Amino acid sequence: MSSIHIKTPDEIEAMRVAGQQAASVLRLIREHVQPGVTTGELDRICHEYIVDELKAVPAPLNYRGFPKSICTSVNHVICHGIPGDKKLKAGDIMNIDITVIQDGWHGDTSKMFFVGEPTIKGKRVADVAYRALVKGIETVRPGATLGDIGHAIQTLVEAERCSVVREYCGHGIGRNFHEDPQVLHYGQPGQGLELKEGMTFTIEPMVNLGKPHTRLLPDDWTVITRDRRLSAQWEHTLAVTADGVDILTRLPGDDI
Ligand code: MF3
Ligand code: CO
Ligand code: CO
Repeated sequence: MSSIHIKTPDEIEAMRVAGQQAASVLRLIREHVQPGVTTGELDRICHEYIVDELKAVPAPLNYRGFPKSICTSVNHVICHGIPGDKKLKAGDIMNIDITVIQDGWHGDTSKMFFVGEPTIKGKRVADVAYRALVKGIETVRPGATLGDIGHAIQTLVEAERCSVVREYCGHGIGRNFHEDPQVLHYGQPGQGLELKEGMTFTIEPMVNLGKPHTRLLPDDWTVITRDRRLSAQWEHTLAVTADGVDILTRLPGDDI
C-alpha cells in the first residue's frame, strides 16, 4: 500500500524555503572545493552553515545511522559517500548532496563539482547526468507518468553510451526525507503512477560511464560502480503544478 502525500500551496511554500536553503549550501561550498581539501572539511563547513546560519537541521546526520551531515561521492562513488580525511586532488569529480530540514520540511539537492581542471571523461559523465536531470524535469506535468520521466532519462543516457543506475532512485519528499513514490530513472512511457498537482518528489539520476552495476562497501553506505569507472549525479526537489513543474531547489539566477 503506497501513500502519496499531496501538498497544499502553503506546504509547498514551506518546502520551497527548505529547498532554497539546501541550494544555498551548494552555492556556499563551491569555493571550498579545491585540491588538498578533505571531504571531512567540506562536511564541517556545510554543517556549521546549516546549523548556525540557516538554523536548519542537516537531514543525513544520524539518518538510519549515517554519520555525517552531507554526502560526498568522489569519482567512482555513485552516491552516499561518507565525508572523511581523504584529500581531493585535481581532476577528481565529486557529487555533494545536501538535505536540510527547515520547520519540519525537507529540501534535497545535489550537484557535481570539479576539483581543479576536469578531465574529458569527468566532464562528460557530469554533463550527461545533468542533461538527464533536465530532461526528466521537463517531462513533469499533471497527466504525465513516472514511467515517462524514467524513459526520458534512460533514453538520453543510453544514447550517450552511458548507463543508468537501477538500485537507487528519486523519491517523494516532504515532512519525510524519503516517502512514496519511488522515482525510477528508467522506464516505459505511459507506465506507472500518473502525476497530479501538489505531488513533491526528487529526480536524481545516477549515470555511469561504464556498466550500471553497483557495489555497496562494508561501511554499509558508500555505493561504488562495480567496474570502478566514473559516476555522476544531479538532484532537484520538485513540485507538480497545475500546468508543469516548480523546481523548489533552484535558486534565482542559477541554471536548472
Ligand atoms: N540525499 C540522499 C538522497 O538524495 C539521501 C542520503 S541518505 C544519507 O536521497 F543518509 F546518506 F544521508
Ligand atoms: Co534525494
Ligand atoms: Co539527495
